[in-house]
Amino acid sequence: MKIIGTGSAAPELRITNDDLSAFLDTSDEWIRTRTGIAERRILTDEALEDLAAEAAEKALEQAGLGAGQVDYIFCSNVINPYLTPALSCVIQGKIGAACPCIDLNGACAGFLYALEMAEAYLKSGKCQNILIVAAECPSRMVDWTDRATCVLFGDGAAAAVVSAGGEDASFLMHTSCDASVLHAYHASGNCPYTPQTASSPLFMNGQEVYKFAVSRSTEDLRTLCADRGMELSQVGHFLLHQANLRILEAVRTRLKQPKEKFPHNVELHGNTSSAGIAILLDELNRGGALQKGEYLAMSAFGAGLTSGACILKWEL
Ligand code: UT7
Repeated sequence: MKIIGTGSAAPELRITNDDLSAFLDTSDEWIRTRTGIAERRILTDEALEDLAAEAAEKALEQAGLGAGQVDYIFCSNVINPYLTPALSCVIQGKIGAACPCIDLNGACAGFLYALEMAEAYLKSGKCQNILIVAAECPSRMVDWTDRATCVLFGDGAAAAVVSAGGEDASFLMHTSCDASVLHAYHASGNCPYTPQTASSPLFMNGQEVYKFAVSRSTEDLRTLCADRGMELSQVGHFLLHQANLRILEAVRTRLKQPKEKFPHNVELHGNTSSAGIAILLDELNRGGALQKGEYLAMSAFGAGLTSGACILKWEL
């Protein structure tokens, strides 16, 4: 599998930590020191599907493919305005593709789950080109009076076109169910046979997720490298889920790797759930930071608790 194009798109509205402290009992100092986040983009009257389509079109353009050459669309998403159809179907219509589409929800690790599924489809010969889109608007899922969660998230979309050929990627996926740590509920609807329940915004036990993230990412990256017969030092860049700079730093120091190998953009985007690694990948790609032939190691973690890690050769 090889990545042949990437793209991303962000909402217009930029919200700084000081903007938040105007209506929340928080401060720029608290948010920066605990998370590294300085600002985030928030959807206003834009549609998530438009951001997703913009990211997809940029990725296709870079790949040199028309929408008609896409054999499948996988969209990683946690929340979007549609319960049905799938967001991938809406993206398909917007970009003018004609292929089958499916959404998957692997929480913040969803982009890596989509990559793993894409590799299986490509290797089976079922597809030649797959469009992966990660589009997220956690701003619609958090309680904006809860300072413990709403300051952490931002909205955004990114895409990657993956194609058959190239070196096999390696993946390591885990799920160990503990919904109590991180969850949000839909409202039950008004079925007369069902107890009525309201929706509840995102709840997160931050410290539990923090411990899970650091230990899981560290172990997954070590294991993946060992299974591939690689030293950690042979990885060109480590792209971690952009949730918190302290998590990145804790993983980096445990793996004893230099700072420049752990790029980040959480300071400008906040935690955009599964879009985070994909946005970072696009920014690095378009900024010329990735060398053809280098190995990228990615690791993400989130609600489930679920995690995914991947090593692939960058061939663009
Ligand atoms: O994509 C999903 C992945 N999620 C994550 O990666 C999140 C992982 N967890 C974390 O990043 C950290 O746990 C947080 C950044 C969420 C929180 O940092 P923490 O160092 O674990 O803080 P805490 O939850 O222990 O809270 C410490 C204090 C509390 O006050 P008291 O009880 O000590 O008086 C909180 O009420 O900080 C308070 N606090 C805040 N203060 C100012 C919580 N949120 C805020 C805030 N501003 N926004």
